[in-house]
Amino acid sequence: MTPELRLEREQVEPTLRPLERASMLPPAAFTDQSVLDWELSSVFGREWICAAHASAVAEPGAYVMRELGDQSFFVIGGKDGRPRAFHNVCRHRGSRLFEQEEGRVRARITCPYHAWSYGFNGELLGARHTDGLEDFDPGCYGLVPVRVRVVAGLVLVDLDGAAEPAHEVVGELRGWLERYRTAQLRRGGERVYEVEANWKAIAENYNECLHCPGVHPELNALSAYDSGEEVTGAGAWCGGSMTLNDGAETMARNGGHAARRPIAGLEPRELRSVYYFVLFPNALVSLHPDYVMLHTLWPRSAGRTTVTCEWYFEPQTIAAEGFDPSDAIEFWDQVNREDWRVCELTQKGTRSRGYTAGRYTTHEADVHAFDSMIAARYLTALRSNAEVEA
Ligand code: FES
Ligand SMILES: [Fe+2]
Repeated sequence: MTPELRLEREQVEPTLRPLERASMLPPAAFTDQSVLDWELSSVFGREWICAAHASAVAEPGAYVMRELGDQSFFVIGGKDGRPRAFHNVCRHRGSRLFEQEEGRVRARITCPYHAWSYGFNGELLGARHTDGLEDFDPGCYGLVPVRVRVVAGLVLVDLDGAAEPAHEVVGELRGWLERYRTAQLRRGGERVYEVEANWKAIAENYNECLHCPGVHPELNALSAYDSGEEVTGAGAWCGGSMTLNDGAETMARNGGHAARRPIAGLEPRELRSVYYFVLFPNALVSLHPDYVMLHTLWPRSAGRTTVTCEWYFEPQTIAAEGFDPSDAIEFWDQVNREDWRVCELTQKGTRSRGYTAGRYTTHEADVHAFDSMIAARYLTALRSNAEVEA
């Protein structure tokens, strides 16, 4: 049963006005656990979410496991090279199958409880002491599949199975991901953070650089906070560019001097820019001249989010002798931590009796675009609640 969304239409409608007249999301959207429960059920549980980069499940038996509220699923590389996704639950007594976030199994998936085993395509391969059962068809006790699609290197899953086509959700962002060869890149580093802030506060923070001069002087020294332009197009995403300052070639330590060749085939303009996109709801994709950074957001409670941050490089770059991604990783690790600090301050502040929904500045078009995506979903739910009650 879908949890009730405990917001009022009057609290949500002001966000959907044009930016010049809009107000931010109501404080309860960040602090009320019932709102997060609704989001887990109705957004993360019914729309395409980004589970991982495709390279994480490219090998047979390589898997990623994710948790969302009380639900858990995994994506695993099939023997045919295609990923498949399943609910992370054994068909015997319901044990979780995978406990680790990432790993690789050799020949089959084996339940840690009584060792029922499954193929990478979900079929039940072994279940001891079931031979004498009546009406037991092993073919009916395979793993329960989850809809999965790979679009431009991102593994998207739809837990509900009825979301609109994934390619429509990614829309014109696909072209950007393909231009930066996102599917061909391979991971050169990963950091995982526990942030004491609502997942939307983290996405909002990513969507603006108004805070950069004060919070990230090192970032502002490489690309000015007010540089670049908004990018728009079909699909459930928002974002825009920032222009690299003269002398900077990428976002990295050592003054942004790229230690690597750029991603193959980029245009001169792309070599002078960094593009920041949010694919709703949980993927933040940052396209740099020489690498792609992918954050995925995993809400844990109204006030806590696990954030996975990964850095992807050209395979030849990773294979080159002396490959060292630490200039990019350490740069963004510092920026990330600076961001988490202000997100956590915001999370505390929005609980204050003294806070009511704020106003967007004219430098927060992407924050407004992101908030409008969630506000539109709130409003649809609140309207349909009102129709049921009428
Ligand atoms: S719960 Fe999985 S084998 Fe028993
Ligand atoms: Fe920031």
